[in-house]
Amino acid sequence: MSTGPGAVAGSAHDGEPVFELRGISHSYGRNQVIFDVSMAVWPGEVVALVGDNGAGKSTLLKIFAGYQRPTSGILRFMGREVSFATPADARGIGIEAVYQDLAIVDQMSLWRNFFLGKEMVRTFGPLRVLERRRMREAAGNALAQLGLTRIRSVEEPVWTLSGGERQSVAITRAIHFGAKLLLLDEPTAALSVRETRNVIASIEHAREHKLGVLYIDHNMSHVLPVADRIVLLELGRVVRTIDRGEVGLVELQDLIARRDHQADG
Ligand SMILES: Nc1ncnc2c1ncn2[C@@H]1O[C@H](COP(=O)(O)OP(=O)(O)OP(=O)(O)O)[C@@H](O)[C@H]1O
Ligand SMILES: [Mg+2]
Repeated sequence: MSTGPGAVAGSAHDGEPVFELRGISHSYGRNQVIFDVSMAVWPGEVVALVGDNGAGKSTLLKIFAGYQRPTSGILRFMGREVSFATPADARGIGIEAVYQDLAIVDQMSLWRNFFLGKEMVRTFGPLRVLERRRMREAAGNALAQLGLTRIRSVEEPVWTLSGGERQSVAITRAIHFGAKLLLLDEPTAALSVRETRNVIASIEHAREHKLGVLYIDHNMSHVLPVADRIVLLELGRVVRTIDRGEVGLVELQDLIARRDHQADG
């Protein structure tokens, strides 16, 4: 890979990253919170973004998702420079963000939520008819493939699902509709141990489908088993990139808690 100014230290990958930040800085008003960050996510790779509160993790994710336009720097998607005016631009090219408070509609059935905004329709002259049966079947198959066996029926309204099931449905949806990059901002916050396990399983499912995954979590015991690479942010700067197996749990926790990092350039 190239070793220009924006290159990502320490990564040995073939081909283009799904998504790449080069020299990204960001300010809210006069308050600069991101400083010259370069990082990339390759297909089939789970990159965890870790760091203390206020380190800038969510801000970086919002830049990936088109919610924030960086003050300076370059975004590249599948090898081409891109810029997003709105989150819809990012979604349109295959970047799917899943937040704790998901934009799903509680009263609607699972299958309607699954196809929200991507409905299968047939047109009869001027009429557009929802293909309900096909959507029910497709939603049911996609969820069953993921092993969401506790979901009784795709007719159930979403409010009957647990937080973990919702996260898993959202991730399944992203895979189903061919997203290239999945962005997860603390998807396991406030989940039970078992639900967390389900969400982690769906992240692994996304990796098997060759999505790139950018994953934020405060709990290092969730991060360590699933992350191929860990990017440690501190006060808006990347201070270290850690490959799988390079550090253990206690060391990782210490790294985040420590406040006197030297950038390891
Ligand atoms: N919309 C905003 N307007 C102004 N400042 C913001 C905004 N969002 C975040 N900030 C500031 O940017 C900095 C980084 O915040 P960010 O939410 O990205 O951190 P984080 O790493 O996600 O933290 P946490 O772990 O607490 O979620 C913080 O100083 C925060 O106060
Ligand atoms: Mg955050």
